[in-house]
Amino acid sequence: MGTPRVQAPVWDSLSVGELASVDITSRDFAAEPFGFWARLRDDAPVQPVRWARGSTAWVITRHPDVEAALRDPRLRKNRQDALRPGVAAAGRGVPKVLAPLERGLLSLDGPDHDRLRRLVRQAFTPHRIELMREQAEQLTESLLDTAQRRGVMDLIGDFAAPLPLILIARIIGVPEEHVPRFRAWTRALLAVGERPLRSIGSVLWFMHYLRRLIVARSRDPRDDLVSGLVAARDGDDGLTTDEILAMLVLLLTAGHETTVNLMGAGTLALLEHPDQADLLRSGSDDPEVVRTAVEELLRFTSPVQTATERWSATDVEVAGVTIPRGSLVLAAIASANRDPAAFTDPDRLDLTRSPNPHLAFGKGAHYCLGAPLARLEAQIAVPALLRRAPALRRVDPTAPPAWRGGAIVRGLESLPVLL
Ligand code: HEM
Repeated sequence: MGTPRVQAPVWDSLSVGELASVDITSRDFAAEPFGFWARLRDDAPVQPVRWARGSTAWVITRHPDVEAALRDPRLRKNRQDALRPGVAAAGRGVPKVLAPLERGLLSLDGPDHDRLRRLVRQAFTPHRIELMREQAEQLTESLLDTAQRRGVMDLIGDFAAPLPLILIARIIGVPEEHVPRFRAWTRALLAVGERPLRSIGSVLWFMHYLRRLIVARSRDPRDDLVSGLVAARDGDDGLTTDEILAMLVLLLTAGHETTVNLMGAGTLALLEHPDQADLLRSGSDDPEVVRTAVEELLRFTSPVQTATERWSATDVEVAGVTIPRGSLVLAAIASANRDPAAFTDPDRLDLTRSPNPHLAFGKGAHYCLGAPLARLEAQIAVPALLRRAPALRRVDPTAPPAWRGGAIVRGLESLPVLL
């Protein structure tokens, strides 16, 4: 059983007012957010905090409230629907040229969302994902072969990032020779909110490329996801090109920038808890041991720290606090996953934890569509890494881990390791 982690004491000395002005999108915050969430859970479980571009976000931090918020139809993903004329719009706007991407699953509610999800599910099936198992195993081994020859690797850049990216590109049907460009394009896409001018050129190229791929598969279908999305039908209804484009972009970004963080932060947690790493290493042939372990790594690391933005379409009362209509609301998954009311000893990494009602993949209508793929990847990659590198360790164990800044996802920039 792992030793309990020490929470940064700094949060204990701050008043709620001071906590509300902490920049929760900074690198410093990403390094040790859990003490902050604990303070809010205890003292202000529904609290407006500083958010991107000078705006304010209401964060909800207790497990039952987070779960209820994720299911609450009054908290909308479509900001236009939620905000009425006269209500001040907070939060970020989307450049006009990216408007087609606003037709994605994470921008829609109710019947519009249900329709899209029904059609997409026809193509993005558990069967299609299960077909990737062998490829995921081969790719894992080949990335580890290269790393082992060198004896050292950046766990993020050389392993955790390429694996999900190459797999999702193959699922989509991107020709192998185009895969390397995808990393740069997905990065540009994720940076578009923060650095619109620098990223927009790459994003437009990316959209152009995907449109051409959709047209190519409409004319000449293959056994891939793009062809499946083109063919998906519900009666007379089908997906438009813009909807397929939005879906591909969402799958690429959601499918890439999240799993990398699970594998990165998950491995760091194992390096910090060697007894737990040994447990997983010795049980790595037992699917049940591996399954339970990955669920705990999901809970403990919460790669998606807060769910994506929601907007209150009406005044909404949570835990006795009224969130005014038109507010930006964040359900703090990372906080719910460490709530002592839901988990015994929540700050302890316990790979045998069961049951484990974590909310790492969300809940309700927007529950992660890629959860089976993310699980498959982590269940293959993490035990393989431990098995192949019995003495795995950080190149410089004394250096503070390099966390990336950013709002919603939480992950490491790099993690140099010796195999
Ligand atoms: C460890 C990896 C992952 C984590 C922790 C994760 C987490 C999440 C969470 C929390 C949500 C809900 C967001 C919200 O309600 O605001 C979500 C939605 C989604 N995820 Fe994931 N995800 C992961 C991997 C993936 C992968 C591999 C894919 C696809 C290839 C994917 C595709 C999606 C999609 C399409 C949605 C939107 C579903 C909808 O709105 O109906 N995710 N994910």
